[in-house]
Amino acid sequence: MEIEEVRLENLDVEGFIREQVEDISSTVGNGLAINALSGGVDSSTVTMLAHKALGDRLKTYFIDSGLMREDEPEHIAGLFRDLGVHVELIDAKDRFLDALKGVSDPEEKRGAITHSFYAIVFAELAKKSGAGYVLQGTNFTDVEETVAGIKRQHNIIEQLGIDPETEYGYKIIEPLIQLRKPAIRALGKQLALPQELYSRPPFPGPALAARIIGEVTGERIETVRKATKVVEEELCDTGAFQYLAILHQDRVTGIRNEKRDYGLQIEVRCWDSEDAITGSPTNLPYETLSGLAERITGEVPGVVSVTYSISKKPPSTIEAL
Ligand code: XMP
Repeated sequence: MEIEEVRLENLDVEGFIREQVEDISSTVGNGLAINALSGGVDSSTVTMLAHKALGDRLKTYFIDSGLMREDEPEHIAGLFRDLGVHVELIDAKDRFLDALKGVSDPEEKRGAITHSFYAIVFAELAKKSGAGYVLQGTNFTDVEETVAGIKRQHNIIEQLGIDPETEYGYKIIEPLIQLRKPAIRALGKQLALPQELYSRPPFPGPALAARIIGEVTGERIETVRKATKVVEEELCDTGAFQYLAILHQDRVTGIRNEKRDYGLQIEVRCWDSEDAITGSPTNLPYETLSGLAERITGEVPGVVSVTYSISKKPPSTIEAL
């Protein structure tokens, strides 16, 4: 089925919400649905939309894959509690780590994460709760990049010819599939999400695994998590579209305590972009860049080198994977 984009300038926000609420409600009927909230703009907007449509017939889960940012699961569950939405935390850390063990190839890594989400965790949750549907926040850009063969976004299933009902035992509903990020933010705002959520920079579904080159291990996640915290603290007021830290696989020689330290490299990226289709590196002041280097080498164990990416998308992509 051809998906038709609805651009922000053509979007009737209230009308779109009304239509989607009716569609979700009639599709699920008297049944039950589940959704996984990550706290990103897309999944947060779907959570609000689906709660409006289904009330108690929707169960919202936060899947703690162990790949999220510091304190993210508890923080997001708390924000939604304040909005009257109960979020159940699911500890799936070991599942994801096991699936990622020994995997270095980017597409295989994405495949392992997709499989863990859909075939294992969602399938079990749907079975346990008796839900026939999973709601998710797939957007137009996700579909476009996957279909164009740039990279398989973790949430693309049916567009790749996979029938989720046969494969996993549930149907998928994707109310945001015609929209790109700016339109989804407008919807989120209208649905009463706090600004912290509807204006959040994008964060990928495979989470910090999309920012680790080479094998994802507990220790390497911790390194990129600490670097991410510094980057987000230092760059949150720049107005940039997205900013991130990437852990490289290669080590480089450094010096620590007057001795050779064959250490880790972190690459910082900060993007100016409208919709993630194209992007340019933000022209950050030199003081900001050197402040980042000081903090990352000082606060993240093992890191001896920090670089700033100056490539555009294309040919780069926003994430490392
Ligand atoms: P790329 O790296 O393809 O990213 O230039 C474009 C936008 O999409 C986000 N991204 C993802 N989001 N699942 C997602 O939900 C994914 O697998 C994924 N990969 C990238 C990325 O953060 C950027 O905003």
